[in-house]
Amino acid sequence: MKMMSWFVKGEDETESGNNRCSSRKGQIRSMEEEIIINNNNNDEVALAIEEEEKEGICVTWKDVWVTVPTAKQGSNTILQALTGYAKPGQLLAIMGPSGSGKSTLLDALAGRLSTKAKQTGDILINGRKQALAYGTSAYLTQDDAILTTLTVGEAVYYSAQLQLPDSMSKSEKKERAEFTIREMGLQDAIHTRIKGISGGQKRRVSICIEILTRPSLLFLDEPTSDLDSAASYYVMSRIASLNDKDGIQRTIVASIHQPSTEVFQLFHNLCLLSSGQAVYFGPTAAANEFFASNGFPCPTLQNPSDHFVKTINKDFEQEDPEPGLSIGLITEEAIHILVKSFKSSAINQQVQTDVVKIGKRNSSAMEMKNHAHFFKQCIILTRRSSVNMYRDAGYYWLRLLIYGGLAISLGTIFYKIGSNSESIQAKASLLVFVVTFLIFITIGGFPSFVEDMKVFERERLNGHYGVTAYIIGHTCSAIPYLLLMSVIPGALVYYLTGLQKGGQHFLYFTCVLFVSVMLVESLMMIVASMVPNFLMGIITGSGILGVMMLNGGFYRLPGDLPKFFWRYPLYYISIHKYAYQGLFKNEFEGLTFSNNKVGAASIMSGKEMLRNSWQIEVDHSKWVDLSILLGMVVLYRILFLVILKIIEKVKPIIAAFK
Ligand SMILES: Nc1ncnc2c1ncn2[C@@H]1O[C@H](COP(=O)(O)OP(=O)(O)OP(=O)(O)O)[C@@H](O)[C@H]1O
Ligand SMILES: [Mg+2]
Repeated sequence: MKMMSWFVKGEDETESGNNRCSSRKGQIRSMEEEIIINNNNNDEVALAIEEEEKEGICVTWKDVWVTVPTAKQGSNTILQALTGYAKPGQLLAIMGPSGSGKSTLLDALAGRLSTKAKQTGDILINGRKQALAYGTSAYLTQDDAILTTLTVGEAVYYSAQLQLPDSMSKSEKKERAEFTIREMGLQDAIHTRIKGISGGQKRRVSICIEILTRPSLLFLDEPTSDLDSAASYYVMSRIASLNDKDGIQRTIVASIHQPSTEVFQLFHNLCLLSSGQAVYFGPTAAANEFFASNGFPCPTLQNPSDHFVKTINKDFEQEDPEPGLSIGLITEEAIHILVKSFKSSAINQQVQTDVVKIGKRNSSAMEMKNHAHFFKQCIILTRRSSVNMYRDAGYYWLRLLIYGGLAISLGTIFYKIGSNSESIQAKASLLVFVVTFLIFITIGGFPSFVEDMKVFERERLNGHYGVTAYIIGHTCSAIPYLLLMSVIPGALVYYLTGLQKGGQHFLYFTCVLFVSVMLVESLMMIVASMVPNFLMGIITGSGILGVMMLNGGFYRLPGDLPKFFWRYPLYYISIHKYAYQGLFKNEFEGLTFSNNKVGAASIMSGKEMLRNSWQIEVDHSKWVDLSILLGMVVLYRILFLVILKIIEKVKPIIAAFK
């Protein structure tokens, strides 16, 4: 653009020269011709640059403010009047002290601010307000959320299978995964489980996963945290050099804490934040000059980025000003001077003009890249989740061990309880205990599930796959474990205690156990989607199950439950009610018992006993109870899907309305 203005000026000068001296007409004509030729050449250059930019993604933001409501002050301003841009082929670094708003700015640019944050100002992608499309953009969050039971190679390869389109062959996907792993210097750790690798290696695995699709727009939040200076340099330079390798003019926006001098030199533009205000935005090369001109020259032999951040970090302000600050100012004043000076600087004027100019570009909307198709995603997710469940002892194995131990304990305590009238109470206690315990311990798998959800949340936000594929994958992978957990302990209890004989009875018994565990898992999924952490999830889940257990019709007979709330509706939605009733019917129906009641027949059927002693609804078959439990499983899973869908769809709508 500078070239263009030079030419305009050149033309004016030529015209005036033309008027001034007619004798030099011939000379001027030749100059004009030269200018036209040059002009054409430079137009071509400018056009080529614009074409290149058109291929990539430009992000501009103008006067962006972000506030969050607080209990005390009403609202807290996190970002203040930020303006800037990120262009294809360039690397923009966002720097500033901790808490200065770097992650918030990245979240705002990527359209991922939390719903409670209020954002004003324009953020344009290629000149228009639009959501980031899958595959063309990627976001590396500050926290790593990866399944730690997988090896580095597995994590990246599964992700490649999920993210890359079906048009790529299996071997091409594998090759892409391996190439990316090598690119991030992880070839030696390829067979190591993520649980056993260092923080820096984990960070690089996250980067690998995000750059697999070769996105044109990359948001990286602290990509070099936990890395030593050499690794930081290699990682950043490889990210920066991706453009040369795949020919994509990539736009990279990265927040970074402590870049070494070498890393700092990789940045084209620098956005320096302090308490959400722009202290500097512009070419990295001009930042030193800007600081020096305002009285804060970078001392010789000091890394400029360290100097900038040190000058504007007021978190550790003491009474005595830092000796490093040349004119003995306290940091607050230094920030004030820099912010004010930047606002009126020529660099800022240029940025404002550039933002308007880039924002006016009339590019097409971002196109979404293809992923693997839905069924393929379900299969890959099932496979990945199965590996994770198999390797994570806390997911199912530990529970299976406890169930096994408890089944043996129950089997020995209630060994061959028989089927006479005296055994009724013991059998009822046994059945109630089996279901209640099985259901309660299901909560034990919750922490592992929450970790799973974190990975899902990150991958969903980055558009790797959808909610439905995740739920199908998780359900399919969990079924074999749930079957194991109901069949093995179930068989131990059933045959040691001598419950009613017959394959059909045993089948029903294990079916109830299986469906009950699955139901509680579904319930805990809903809880996980609504509470912020696993401790609160465990407390909430235990509370809900405690109430359901109390209300299931055993500890207090259904007829004795207070009608309001406890009987209607709680008794009817209690998981325990249907599990108890089904198991009781399975055990007692078909048997006969002696009746001690005066004036009644001496023998009573199991059905009568159930109705009289436990107020069981014997009008419908035990299979109806099982079907209701199964229906609840489906309902709860659908509810989980709906909640996640609502979160996914409604969040952006709420954000857009703010
Ligand atoms: N949802 C929120 N509610 C309240 N305050 C928030 C919220 N998100 C961020 N903040 C506050 O905004 C400020 C900026 O946070 P942000 O995470 O963007 O900082 P940062 O520069 O990324 O810090 P770090 O370098 O430590 O990652 C912090 O003071 C933080 O407490
Ligand atoms: Mg941050």
